[in-house]
Amino acid sequence: MQENNNLSDIAANNLQVGIFKYCLAPDENFLSANQALLDMLGCSRLEFLQKKINVLFYSENDKKIFFNLLSKGDPVKLFQTKIKTKGQDAWIAISAVITYTKDQKKIIQGLVQDVSCQKKIHEHISVEKNFLENLLDNLPDAVYFKDRQNRIIKANRFYIQGTNFPREEVIGKTDFDFFSFDEADQMFKDDQFILRTGKPIVGKIEKTTLANGKKNQVITTKIPMRNKKGEIIGTMGITRDITAHTNLEEEKFSMIINTLEALGKALELRDPYTFNHTRSVAIIAQTIASELKWDAYRLLGIKLAGELHDLGKIAIPIDILNRPGKLSTLEYDLIKEHSQSCYELMKDFSFPFPLAKAVYQHHERIDGTGYPLGLKSSQIIPEAKILAVSDVLEAMTSHRPYREALNINSAQEELKAGKGSKYDSDIVDIALNLIEKKGNQPFWKN
Ligand SMILES: [Fe+2]
Ligand SMILES: [Fe+2]
Repeated sequence: MQENNNLSDIAANNLQVGIFKYCLAPDENFLSANQALLDMLGCSRLEFLQKKINVLFYSENDKKIFFNLLSKGDPVKLFQTKIKTKGQDAWIAISAVITYTKDQKKIIQGLVQDVSCQKKIHEHISVEKNFLENLLDNLPDAVYFKDRQNRIIKANRFYIQGTNFPREEVIGKTDFDFFSFDEADQMFKDDQFILRTGKPIVGKIEKTTLANGKKNQVITTKIPMRNKKGEIIGTMGITRDITAHTNLEEEKFSMIINTLEALGKALELRDPYTFNHTRSVAIIAQTIASELKWDAYRLLGIKLAGELHDLGKIAIPIDILNRPGKLSTLEYDLIKEHSQSCYELMKDFSFPFPLAKAVYQHHERIDGTGYPLGLKSSQIIPEAKILAVSDVLEAMTSHRPYREALNINSAQEELKAGKGSKYDSDIVDIALNLIEKKGNQPFWKN
């Protein structure tokens, strides 16, 4: 028994955990303490035994809370408080239980752990966490983290504001709770792609409708989120609202279009024939392009190219343009310059489609017999190939100052004869098909 006591004393004195017994009644005093506790408090055993339990608490309030917990009968686990030791504050965690001796003494048996180090780490993490959350919450972009089931596990203030839900309700929801089915479905597919391939989606432009009905144009970057082992555990994304920016771009774009259309009008004042011709070419070209399922921007581009393709004729004397009879080689060469002058006029405007190139190449022929460069099929852009067919169709079927309009059959024959040599075969087929569907009438006229 004596040996056992010695062994437990050795163990108690070599532990890094403080151990104490404190008598609460009838007298209040420490009964024992191991060396680790004396070291924590920085006092000798003799000094310690003269102290009261207050030595383990930073404040009266802490002590009050601790005893309140203890009075409930269950052991108190890891109650955190501060002590003053060697002039420094240290965080400790007290675990304690009340027991009674045979002679009815009320004893507190307790363990004291120095948790300053853990506390410091925790505080450090907490500072970092606050810093990160502050940063995220002050970003003017939506930032969100999702698990493998596409459920939101964390989101910043900007994202949460857009959902119209309180923060605690956003967590655990998916895009299907915030967006229309089609929008959410696309987002879901994008997330699944990232989870499956580990590849990010960078700078994707999409349209979203917020809970308040506001429609936005946004740019989104999403990346896979990995654990320490490198396994993909979800996705994280950042989305920026670019609606205002896009509107600005669109406004700029529409201003340029208005300017160019005004130039086209100027051509009308000077040469109504060419103006009517270009307006019809625009309709023909856009109808052919629609058959090719081009997107809205490209359709707008081909329409504009049709309206402006002969704008370069503004630089040609009117009597040469509309003179009946044969032109001299010199005069014909002058007319041929209109593609180049039109290109020069437009090449500096910035468009999302190749307007300048389309007008530059509209007299090129796929066998290389066109002008100004004698380009061959693969060098000619599709816009110019459509313009070439549209131009011929319109020119042949309309009245000119120097000749009467030819009938539609002549135009059909010209296209058939030039199919695959002068004109692109597919485009000719589309044009002929459109004429046929209209009962062998010009489909661009009402
Ligand atoms: Fe032309
Ligand atoms: Fe033309």
